[in-house]
Amino acid sequence: SKLVGLVGWRGMVGSVLIDRMVQEKDFDLIEPVFFSTSNAGGKAPAQAKNETTLQDANNIDALKRCEIIITCQGGDYTKEVYPKLRAAGWNGHWIDAASSLRMADDAIIVLDPVNRNVIDAALGKGGKNWIGGNCTVSLMLMGLGGLFQHNMVEWVSAMTYQAASGAGAQNMRELLSQMGALHDAVKDDLANPSSAILDIDRKVSATMRSAEFPTKNFRNTALAGSLIPWIDVPVENGQSKEEWKGGAECNKILGNPAFRTAGSIPIDGLCVRIGAMRCHSQGLTIKLKKDVPMDEIESILASANDWVKVVPNVREISERDLTPAAVTGTLTVPVGRLHKMAMGNDYLGAFTVGDQLLWGAAEPLRRMLRILLE
Ligand code: HSE
Repeated sequence: SKLVGLVGWRGMVGSVLIDRMVQEKDFDLIEPVFFSTSNAGGKAPAQAKNETTLQDANNIDALKRCEIIITCQGGDYTKEVYPKLRAAGWNGHWIDAASSLRMADDAIIVLDPVNRNVIDAALGKGGKNWIGGNCTVSLMLMGLGGLFQHNMVEWVSAMTYQAASGAGAQNMRELLSQMGALHDAVKDDLANPSSAILDIDRKVSATMRSAEFPTKNFRNTALAGSLIPWIDVPVENGQSKEEWKGGAECNKILGNPAFRTAGSIPIDGLCVRIGAMRCHSQGLTIKLKKDVPMDEIESILASANDWVKVVPNVREISERDLTPAAVTGTLTVPVGRLHKMAMGNDYLGAFTVGDQLLWGAAEPLRRMLRILLE
């Protein structure tokens, strides 16, 4: 079987990837070679077969042996190692979770339930670079894919509610530390039913604003009990990079002309960090090209792929099925709150939730591996 190099398998996305590969028995089909940036020569994990020693992730000759390399090591590693590997004549398939190569002309953003046609066309032309999309973008397309496939979308406004995991493992820990610090500040008052809620609130606010509040990973900003209305660096037009990716990557995934050029779909919105652990949610305003009846919209959405689930626009069902708490750790992508908006019958409101580490990161990578093994 093919030698498949795995880089960055110990981190958060990498660990989710390995778990999913074990569940789906991907290791039965490959000869894995585990790489490490810090522990070359050490013992490879249990999934290793003949290649039981960790290889040096910066050793180009060791990497060159692999027909396929999957990396979750991060963008700096990609920028450092990928060009050297190609310069050394390596002609294998590079599957990458990082954004560094995403917008390159010779790279395809992989999300096969949505763009298998784009992937197949690139494979036919000898494509070798397969990059996972931004989590928010991939999750929106898993939820709304049907509308795009049926060419029904004139534009989309996506207002996001993004989980701590998107910022990294340390940020998930910090969110929980913040929650704990807030609770600690008012524990005694909460235990006393006659304490005054405005006193409790004053203590919570003071704690959140105090110099001791743990905020190092969130750039000195409180997330617990609050939110952060900016994700990633600023780019042009007042957008953050996370917001820019919505337009740029969606159009690329769908095989459309480039964002902000003729024939592309305008996609924009505000990306906001909230205190969820690992599920990104989005509130969507979709301008349809024409007025399509709701039952038709629901059946188009529901039949787009095996993971999307249309949630009836009913309070109790939305509370039960359309939340990060319900979705976390699963591959289901519910889309709900579906209704025509006050602006007109060609304006659709929707809300979708998805696990940022599964469809948002690891799952498209292992599915691309499977496509290469077909
Ligand atoms: N940039 C995303 C976020 C995660 O910060 O939530 C990576 O796609």
